[in-house]
Amino acid sequence: MSLTRVSRSDSLELHEGVDNAAFQEDGGRADSEKTDGQVAADCPSSSLNLDGAESSYTQIKPYAGMSKEVLLLYSRQARYRLPREILFWLVIVSTLVLLAVNITVIALSPRCLSWWQSSPVYQIYPRSFKDSNNDGIGDLKGIQDKLDHLNYLNIKAIWISPFYKSPMRDFGYDVEDFRDIDPIFGTMKDFDDLLVSMHDKGLRLIMDFIPNHSSDNHVWFQNSRRREEPYTDYYVWANCTRDKLPNNWVSVFGNSSWTYDSVREQCYLHQFLKEQPDLNFRNPDVRREMTDIIRFWLDKGVDGFRMDAVKHILEAPHLRDEPQVNASQPPEQVNTEFELHHDYTYTQVGLHDILRGWRAELDTYSREPGRYRFMVTESYDYEEIDKTMMYYSTDFARESDFPFNFYLMDLPQGLSGARAQELVGNHDKPRMSSSVGKEYISAINMMMLTLPGTPTTYYGEEIGMENVHIHIEDIQDPFGKFDPNASRDPQRSPMQWSSEPNAGFSGNGTGTWLPIHPNYTTVNVEAQKGNDSSVLEQYRRLSLLRESEMALHRGWMCFVWSDVDVFVYLREQDGLDRAFLVLINLGRNATTDLSSISGLPEHFRVHTSTVPKNQGRSYDRAAVPTKKGEGLLLEFSSNQRFHTSHASSCYISERACYLNVLDIMYKC
Ligand code: GLC
Repeated sequence: MSLTRVSRSDSLELHEGVDNAAFQEDGGRADSEKTDGQVAADCPSSSLNLDGAESSYTQIKPYAGMSKEVLLLYSRQARYRLPREILFWLVIVSTLVLLAVNITVIALSPRCLSWWQSSPVYQIYPRSFKDSNNDGIGDLKGIQDKLDHLNYLNIKAIWISPFYKSPMRDFGYDVEDFRDIDPIFGTMKDFDDLLVSMHDKGLRLIMDFIPNHSSDNHVWFQNSRRREEPYTDYYVWANCTRDKLPNNWVSVFGNSSWTYDSVREQCYLHQFLKEQPDLNFRNPDVRREMTDIIRFWLDKGVDGFRMDAVKHILEAPHLRDEPQVNASQPPEQVNTEFELHHDYTYTQVGLHDILRGWRAELDTYSREPGRYRFMVTESYDYEEIDKTMMYYSTDFARESDFPFNFYLMDLPQGLSGARAQELVGNHDKPRMSSSVGKEYISAINMMMLTLPGTPTTYYGEEIGMENVHIHIEDIQDPFGKFDPNASRDPQRSPMQWSSEPNAGFSGNGTGTWLPIHPNYTTVNVEAQKGNDSSVLEQYRRLSLLRESEMALHRGWMCFVWSDVDVFVYLREQDGLDRAFLVLINLGRNATTDLSSISGLPEHFRVHTSTVPKNQGRSYDRAAVPTKKGEGLLLEFSSNQRFHTSHASSCYISERACYLNVLDIMYKC
């Protein structure tokens, strides 16, 4: 086949039937034998006269090295042009479609849950978790030895109470050096090793950060008492005499929060022990120091902080007396926290700015992929829930990921106040097994693991540990020394690992820093592991279930029912038919009639019960039986969502729907 190029007026056409001159053999003479000029002369482009109206040109087919003009001749041909244009537009359209799909997917996708949302946080009180050097006190190496226990429970984040260098007046909450480890707990190398092991096992480390005060042994305080610059104003000092204190403020641990210092001849403020002087956060140097300490630990790789006692950080500079709760009480008898309104010492203006500043630091470090740095704040705001809510981030100001929700601790006294929450116990509060009753512990664990929000488990709750009895003369807690009824020792007894001596916590022949609970022979990890009906195995099952069931870890929570015995709520997820109804019995044996509640199915199947023989049973909604202390997770299937008809009793933190066909989540 050959082509002829015919130029008529301005247009060029190619016709079949004419030989391609450029491909004709040149009398057997090889190109190599030709001169450059000859090659150029033979080249078809050189034989084209594109300008001339009469010009014509013939070719057989495209050839390698053809000139631009020849190429254009072919490319303008309809059979090349059409597919080319089709391909061109296909590429453009598909690129645009892909872009649009990407933008839509990004815009419609709900945020993935971060590590601090996807599993319970486990609190370790390091003195009491595991003793590796047999001195009767737990330590960092001990924690490292027991990480598999936490993996077994499907825990992903561990908050460790303070292990800084400390004279231990408040067992670590009195920090002598914010950049060092107390020798009781080990060395900085032990800390580094622990952190590496934790990360290797997929565990995150949340440190306790104590901004309000240091130990009086801290070099800053020692310098401040001597008015050595720049430390003079590192603490809150006021003029006073031994007999005339600056005002009526009282410490959380009882008595005046002022102590006269004979070196400086002034009083210093301490909202906790006198060995815990309050830092002066109105001094920019102090704020800078504390931020540097946060950076120090972030640089080491810690994953977040539990910010201790934050509502105490600032005080009113005018130092006026706080109003008494009972105005007629003689002022000299006012010596406990609950006898004053803390208008000038708690939650002062400026507090949230300080916290937001620290959040910004954490956010800087969170930019590393997969390294979100977390922040939880501790503030006992008692009945003032608005104050608690202030610690949450908003769209405009980032602050803590959540404040601890202490309200659930009051649950046994009044079920109607229950809300989505995070924790039921810690090192400051009696263990639930003791305050509510050990028969309720599995139901309480079930409630914690099936409510929305991040559950926080204090070590030992997973096996139902109870408060230990401590004779008054053996009390170690400084708060307990002021008021034995307020002692926090009972909930700090050593972890019960096995029925070995010292419950497997320590090999020390002369005992442990606090006594072991006598029930350790039966209440221990070893005895409960593998026993399906044990508190430990129930905890584990629910922890795994929470992670695998979307309705439980990110779905709606609807309040359904409560009476003196039973608290009932529902968990469901838009787009999923499978939903759960949870009954927590914190009273006596009961039968709950839910037939007046619209939107519930006639029957439920027992998915999990803390009373193992009830497993797999089916219940009618008019009569759901629960035993005293039973936790019941009922399962049902429905294509009707409960929350749509009960909006005022339902809650979700971030709504998302599940699309079955594509197995994806989207904002809805
Ligand atoms: C926090 C701690 C508590 C400590 C106090 C003073 O409330 O939880 O244990 O005694 O702060 O630091």
